[in-house]
Amino acid sequence: KEITDAPILIIGSGYGGAVSALRLCEAGKKVVMLEMGLNWEKSGIPFSNMLKPGKSAAWLKKKTIAPFMNIFSLTPFTGTLDRMDFEHINIWVGRGVGGGSLVNGGMAVTPKESYFREVFPDLDADKFYSTYFPLVHKELKVNVIGEQFLKDCPYYKFTRVGEAEAHKAGFKTIRVPNVYDFQYMEKEYKNEVPRSAFNTEVIYGNNHGKNSLDKTYLKKALETGNLEILDLHCVENIKLNEDKTYTLNVQQTDTSGAVVADKVFNCKKLILAAGTMGTLRLLLKSNAVNHFPIHEQIGKSWGNNGNFMTGRNWVKPLSGGTGAKQSTIPVGGIDNWEDKEHPFFTEIAPLPMGMDVATALYLLINRVDKKGEVSYNVNSQKLNLNWDQSNTAKMKENADYFIKKMNRANGGTRSHFLFNNGFGADVCYHPLGGCVLGKATNEYGKLKDHNNLYVLDGSLIPGTIGVNPFVTITAIAEYCIENLIRQNEFA
Ligand code: FDA
Repeated sequence: KEITDAPILIIGSGYGGAVSALRLCEAGKKVVMLEMGLNWEKSGIPFSNMLKPGKSAAWLKKKTIAPFMNIFSLTPFTGTLDRMDFEHINIWVGRGVGGGSLVNGGMAVTPKESYFREVFPDLDADKFYSTYFPLVHKELKVNVIGEQFLKDCPYYKFTRVGEAEAHKAGFKTIRVPNVYDFQYMEKEYKNEVPRSAFNTEVIYGNNHGKNSLDKTYLKKALETGNLEILDLHCVENIKLNEDKTYTLNVQQTDTSGAVVADKVFNCKKLILAAGTMGTLRLLLKSNAVNHFPIHEQIGKSWGNNGNFMTGRNWVKPLSGGTGAKQSTIPVGGIDNWEDKEHPFFTEIAPLPMGMDVATALYLLINRVDKKGEVSYNVNSQKLNLNWDQSNTAKMKENADYFIKKMNRANGGTRSHFLFNNGFGADVCYHPLGGCVLGKATNEYGKLKDHNNLYVLDGSLIPGTIGVNPFVTITAIAEYCIENLIRQNEFA
C-alpha cells in the first residue's frame, strides 16, 4: 500500500474544509485535502442541466435522484448529487471538490440574531454579526438581485407571483441574497454570455455564474501554494495511534466508482469536514471497527433544520401560472418566523421543468423541537437515524397552515403532483448536528477525548439554525479555525 505522511489532513472540501484550508495555508501550513468526489474543474467535464441529466447528475446511480420527476436513466458516474435514504427521511448532499456548494441553490442567508443566540447561547453573537458574517459574505461573494431586473425578467415570474400571493394571504416576504453573480445573470439574459441559471443548471452543478467554493475559498487556498487536493479519495476509516497521531485507510477510485488503489495516510493533525453525515459516519464507523474513542455526545442533537417541502397547484393557472421559463436561483422567501403558533421561513422555490406546470414549490425551514440521533449499525455497515414522523409533526402542521392560508387567499390545491399527499416530510437538504460545538467538542471544534482531532462542518450546529445553513457553517468554521490557529494547535 502507498503510504503518505502529511502534517495536516482535511477530509472533505465543502464549506468547513475550504475555510480551514485557506486559513491554515495563509498561516504558512502545508495542508493535504482528501475529497471522495471529482475535481470537476480539472476534469474538464461540463455539468449537466436538469432537463438533460448526464455525468454530473448523480453519485454512482442508475437513475436521477432529484426530489421528483426521476424519469432519466444514467450510466453510473461519480456525479455531484448524492442521496442517503433512511426509513423516514432522504438526505441529499453534494460530492466533488467544493462539496455542497456545487449543487446547492446558493441562497446565502444570515440567521436571525435572536435565533442564533438561542441556538448558540455560549457564542459571542455581537462578534458574529459584526465580524464573521460580514467576512463570510465577502469571501463567498454574496450579492443581491437588482429589483428592476427581477421585476422585468420573465424567468422570475415564479418569484413575483409567489410574493404577490404571499402578500395577499397576509405573509411577509424578504429578498434573499445569493452567491450566484447577478451581473452575470443580467448578461446571460441578454445572451451576451453562456446561460446557466437560465439553462436549468443548479442541482447537478452550474457551468457559469455561481461562485461555488472552487471559485472562492479553495481557489485562494490553492494560490498560496500550500494546499494539495486529492480528489476521488474516499476515507474509509480512521485509527488513533499510541503517539496520538492518526492513520487513515483511503480508497482511490475512478469515475465509475471502481477502487484503483488502497492507500494509507498518516497525519499529526486531522480536520473532519466531511459534512454532517460524512463526519458522523467516519467517527461512528471508526469507533465500531477500530475502537476509535468517541465522546458520548457524538451522534446526538441531529436535525433536518426543519426542512419540509410542499407545493400548490392552481386549478386555473393564476395569471398564467409561474411560467415555463424559470431561473434555477431562488431570490425570494416568506418570513413567518415571528408567528408564535406557526414559526417558519420558506423559500419561494423554482420548478424549472421547461413547461408551465402551474405548480408553486416551497421548502419550509422550521424549528426542530424534537431532535434525532445518529448511530452506526455494524451488521449493515450503515448509519442508523432515529427519526420518524413524530420529529416532523409540527413542521407538517406549519406546512398545512401555510398552504391552506395561501389557497384561501389565492385559490389552488395542495400539490399531489409533486409528493404523495402534497407533503415532503422526507426531503432533507440541510442535515445538521451530531457533533455539537461545545458539547462533543471544545468551544472551537476540537473533539473531546482527542488531542489532535477537529470537526469543522455542519455537524457542529445542533440540528437547526432557522434559515439555509451554509453562511452559518462558514462563519462558525472561520471563528473556530481563527481561534485554533491562535492557540497554536497547528504549530
Ligand atoms: P459539505 O457537504 O458541503 O462537504 C463535505 C464534503 O466531504 C463533500 O464534498 C463530500 O464528498 C466529502 N466527503 C464526505 N465523506 C468523505 C470521505 N469519507 N472521504 C472523503 N471525502 C468525503 N444551503 C444554503 O445555505 N443555501 C442553499 O441554497 C442550499 N441549497 C441546497 C440545495 C441542495 C440540493 C443541497 C443538497 C443542499 C443545499 N444547501 C443549501 C445545504 C448546503 O449545501 C450544506 O449545508 C453545506 O454544503 C454543508 O457544508 P459542510 O461543510 O458541512 O459539508
